[in-house]
Amino acid sequence: MKVVIPAAGLGRRFLPVTKSMPKEMLPVVDRPVIHYVVEEAVSAGATNIVIITGRGKRAVEDYFDHNPDLGNIGEARELEELEAITRRVSIYYIRQRMPKGLANAIYCASHFVGNEPFGVLLGDTINVCSPPLLAQLKSRFDALGGQSSVLSVEPVPDTKVKDYGIVRGREVSPGVFEVEQMVEKPRLEEAPSRLGTTGAYFLTPGIFRAIEQTAPDATGETQLTTALNTLSREEKVYAVTFQGRRYDIGDRAIWLRTNIEFAMKNPALRSAVLDACREYGR
Ligand code: G1P
Repeated sequence: MKVVIPAAGLGRRFLPVTKSMPKEMLPVVDRPVIHYVVEEAVSAGATNIVIITGRGKRAVEDYFDHNPDLGNIGEARELEELEAITRRVSIYYIRQRMPKGLANAIYCASHFVGNEPFGVLLGDTINVCSPPLLAQLKSRFDALGGQSSVLSVEPVPDTKVKDYGIVRGREVSPGVFEVEQMVEKPRLEEAPSRLGTTGAYFLTPGIFRAIEQTAPDATGETQLTTALNTLSREEKVYAVTFQGRRYDIGDRAIWLRTNIEFAMKNPALRSAVLDACREYGR
């Protein structure tokens, strides 16, 4: 399976730290977000991953690369897991010349992907799902006939509607919606539902033609949501709910909470977190 990981976004929601470091390198405990994303893609069966980077994203490439200053990367215990992941998959990089939106970033991978269905995982979103979220989407894709793109959705509160792609669809079986309309980050009163796109997709190559037909929005960015809307007029597109949890790390409050939650699951850090909660929670 080929997987595209867009990681070219500017991280505006997380300034100032993202002024000089990629948001995909924000640490969650002791691993950068992109580590979890690549790990998920590999456990879902990715054999080839292309990460779409841009200006200021060199740290992402360095992370998965050999570091001669650290000696033999496989020898350091802390790096064993990373080494094991990189042995199981080939990682490629394509640079998006300008930040022109998620659809444009994915389009950069069109030659890499060719004429086959492929997965997309956002570089700033961690999914903790069993089976892995992309594997769940691929199963749905197969069950729906292998001709229709599938994307993950979850109910979002009113306050978050403006942050996500919102989907209106016809529920054809429990948790499976045939997409009728998608709107990127609508105002609450214009939102067609409360079902938000969470940033995992299993797409047909038809998306590339749809992106070509999609005009940029007022900010000059071409939105994947708009391209999927275009695609849904030519092919069926399904939005599906999933088992598990996703963490949108580009959001500061969610990043903080995720660090606490993941540290609580780490036996070496759990008591430190509980001590801090006792001390500051009063
Ligand atoms: C992107 C997509 C949006 C989706 C969101 C999920 O937005 O454009 O449709 O709901 O990811 O996190 P971004 O977070 O890049 O602004």
